[in-house]
Amino acid sequence: MHARAVAASTTALLGTAALLFPISPARATAAADGSAPLVIAHRGASAYAPENTLAAVDAAAELGIRWVENDVQRTRDGELVVLHDDSLRRTTDAEEVFPDRAPWKVGDFTAAEIARLDAGSWFGPAYEGARVPTLEQFLHRVDHHHQKLLLEIKNPELYPGIERQTLKVLGNEGWLDRPHRAGRLIVQSFSADSVRTVHELKPGVKTGLLGTPPVADVPAHAGYADQINTSHRSLSLAYVASVQAFTGPHGRPLEVFAWTVDDAETARRVTGYGVDGVISNRPDVVREAVGR
Ligand code: G3P
Ligand code: CA
Repeated sequence: MHARAVAASTTALLGTAALLFPISPARATAAADGSAPLVIAHRGASAYAPENTLAAVDAAAELGIRWVENDVQRTRDGELVVLHDDSLRRTTDAEEVFPDRAPWKVGDFTAAEIARLDAGSWFGPAYEGARVPTLEQFLHRVDHHHQKLLLEIKNPELYPGIERQTLKVLGNEGWLDRPHRAGRLIVQSFSADSVRTVHELKPGVKTGLLGTPPVADVPAHAGYADQINTSHRSLSLAYVASVQAFTGPHGRPLEVFAWTVDDAETARRVTGYGVDGVISNRPDVVREAVGR
């Protein structure tokens, strides 16, 4: 179905959600009108500090980067923590501290156990003692720097109910008020079911689906996702234009964020495609390349 036909058929469903979602139409179409895309620090500025730690948030702030991405998972005793892999092995000293706990899955450890781990030394001695933050701690640090958050629900199939729990924490920490919903928060996941659940639970929250769904499937995703966030390797001018031609759940054109772009040439390429955001471990390099 053509994008305009989809937009027309969904308009009647949009009223309540649009009222809950006070995003500027100008922002939604910024990249399409030729302005520079947003630059998002991937797992914090993770080329310069250990990923998904508070130090990586600080590093992004020091570079003047306004948007930070992270990955949220759940401990055995139900705490939300910020970590990318489903195992603690790569980015902490879990193997050393708990030698008998292979394969060191996040969901097999309590929050207190994870809080003991060093999540910085693997990156460099200057970061010895950095911790795996809880989601609350991460939100506080992002707030402290007046930054904005692209929150990824990671491996949701491992953590039933994580969408509701994540929204509860966001609400408790003040991240679901109008200013945050208007421009400081996006929740994304590779799981369409997870993104759809977030939308159904809190229709006012901006959402993104990670991956590269076929254009023919985009109308279905446009019912609950405001963005399609895609690896730069699978992006093209035609794909970005096709996605942006559809209207999302809040009555605005779908957006596309590209990941993970760490060099100037690729940043300029995807910017030429008209992407709305560029997610990068080296956000300063991208900003310099795209002029934002
Ligand atoms: O935000 C996009 C990106 O984070 C998705 O991939 O594996 O780095 O979480 P990954
Ligand atoms: Ca991520």
